[in-house]
Amino acid sequence: MSQNLLPLEPVETILEKLVFSKDDLLYLLNTSGKERIKLFEKAKEVKAACVGRKVYFRGLIEYSNYCKKNCYYCGIRAGNSRYARYRMTDAEVLEAVNYAYLNDYASIVIQSGEQTNKAFVAKIESLLKRIHLQTAGKIHVTLSLGEQSEDTYRRWFEAGAHRYLLRIEVSNPALYLKLHPNNLSHDYNRRLDALKTLRNVGYQVGTGVMIGLPFQTISDLADDLIFFREFDIDMAGMGPYIEHADTPLYLYRSELLPLKERFDLALKMVAILRIMMKNINIAATTAMQTIDPQGREKALMVGANVIMPNLTPVKYRQDYLLYENKPCLDEEAEECKSCLEARIHIAGDTIGYGEWGDSRHFSERNT
Ligand code: 5AD
Ligand code: SF4
Ligand code: FES
Repeated sequence: MSQNLLPLEPVETILEKLVFSKDDLLYLLNTSGKERIKLFEKAKEVKAACVGRKVYFRGLIEYSNYCKKNCYYCGIRAGNSRYARYRMTDAEVLEAVNYAYLNDYASIVIQSGEQTNKAFVAKIESLLKRIHLQTAGKIHVTLSLGEQSEDTYRRWFEAGAHRYLLRIEVSNPALYLKLHPNNLSHDYNRRLDALKTLRNVGYQVGTGVMIGLPFQTISDLADDLIFFREFDIDMAGMGPYIEHADTPLYLYRSELLPLKERFDLALKMVAILRIMMKNINIAATTAMQTIDPQGREKALMVGANVIMPNLTPVKYRQDYLLYENKPCLDEEAEECKSCLEARIHIAGDTIGYGEWGDSRHFSERNT
């Protein structure tokens, strides 16, 4: 994956540029030794100056593992019959929300496999209204429920959701085609249109990619960063690709970079994105911790400023395995909370309890 690039300029000069070219990005993604450390130091500085050394909690509710899609990399794809399919009850969702409320998280994410039937759309709408009532509007809700129609996005927005995460997964359409079945439910352009619709409806829009996939090159990753800039995203969630034995992509595991290298590339992607888009929100994702026990702290130290403590009832966790070795399968919400508090402390940041931590980028673009 890596290529030998001769430095045309010292890394310090590149890091000061207002806009990185594709060559700059390739260079930064390939840094090692002292240059790599300089990249990380710069990202840390930009984070402190532009979003502050504060981390915002988003309580994660993995609402359901029913999914109509068949992405070749994902453990809960429709074609995998290994997992028992579940949907949380209203009472379970409201209890998780209450935990977030009582613990001052101020913000939650509702994530699920993709479902578009009428009952699902109406259920989410009614839950959003109940969450709003139950918490007197104090909890902000982010949705991560896949591609939906404009009407659905609008209904959920009007019911109280104001942020949406929809990863583009890979910004190269040819690579997208290799990682998904070739049909309308997995169409790159439809996904891109969904992101545009979310923006038009008024959401703070988050997207992201997987890093270290089979067939993916460093040039693809540089293009992903350019994609984020051109789309002018408000939030990002990126993480290393981690193989899952029950998926078609597992066949290509011999072509993967070693886990450590995938992790390092993910860390560089976070650092470079922080320098490029100074005031967006960037998540320290769970997939980072799957590879490295200190993965999330390391991401915070190079620019990430959002963490998602898991609030899903423990009995469902082993059925929401998008990839293998996912952490926190047995830990109750309280354990993840204290664990993350300690990790954030080690990273030298503080937790923005009681703060929504909206994307500054979004507010600035809209004023
Ligand atoms: N490894 C890492 N991330 C994955 N996702 C799905 N499968 C995997 C995997 N095997 C990510 C996708 C999706 C998000 C919810 O999880 O990027 O958008
Ligand atoms: Fe479904 Fe998302 Fe997994 Fe694709 S990545 S199979 S849409 S849960
Ligand atoms: Fe869940 Fe550490 S975050 S146990």
